[in-house]
Amino acid sequence: MTTSRKLVAGNWKMNLLREEALALTAEIKGMMTTDVSSACQIILFPPFVHLTSIVQLCSDNTRIAVGAQDCSEFSFGAYTGQVSAEMIKSCGATHVLIGHSERRALCAESNEMVRMKIQQALKSGLTPVLCIGESLAQRENGLAFSTVNHQLEEGLFSLPATDVAKVIIAYEPVWAIGTGLSATPEQAQEMHAYIRGQIAKHIGDKAAAFSSILYGGSCTPENAPSLFSKPDIDGGLIGGASLKSRPFIDIVKAIG
Ligand code: PGA
Repeated sequence: MTTSRKLVAGNWKMNLLREEALALTAEIKGMMTTDVSSACQIILFPPFVHLTSIVQLCSDNTRIAVGAQDCSEFSFGAYTGQVSAEMIKSCGATHVLIGHSERRALCAESNEMVRMKIQQALKSGLTPVLCIGESLAQRENGLAFSTVNHQLEEGLFSLPATDVAKVIIAYEPVWAIGTGLSATPEQAQEMHAYIRGQIAKHIGDKAAAFSSILYGGSCTPENAPSLFSKPDIDGGLIGGASLKSRPFIDIVKAIG
């Protein structure tokens, strides 16, 4: 992949059987050639069991990266059902989602676990995509910025600056995920600028200017152009709309 900040990622969550996943990948691959300008980069995040096949399918396309939706906070051992960062890397994947709000809520992932997972990912040579974002109650109580800052402080900023610089951030307000209620471009830009400012405090303005900060939460082909036109929104992490090639590619096209 290039070092451009701009990218769109598809988080397939626990969807798509093997044949469906392969068919969707083949469609996306074709459309990346026919429909999308050569500068655009994407990352696909399929379920673990499809990783190797999709890596193979995309191996001849340098604009499509493949990642896992989670990794263990441990290197190896008696952790039934878990998958290590090194295993993911050995399948040919290059990225890993860490701290998605569904894992924080359903699997009780703490910021401490998130930090350990980021360390495992970096140690294995994977690029972590760290998901952060506030709940509706936190936003309504004026706690959106302090919540996001707390997630960054505990989950990321105790790592060395050189590591922080390697992490992609996905700002995903929990109230916008899967609800059809996206943040407005102004709300998202305000938070993205804040996040970039916090990163700058830790790694400097110049390095922070290279950090990719993606928006996630009910992103669609309709709202993507106005979201991506904001200066600190570098692309999107797409859930529901990434499960079909046409809407996903239309969102990719919105990054220009
Ligand atoms: P959504 O999911 O686009 O379906 O809201 C985004 C995500 O959870 O990453």
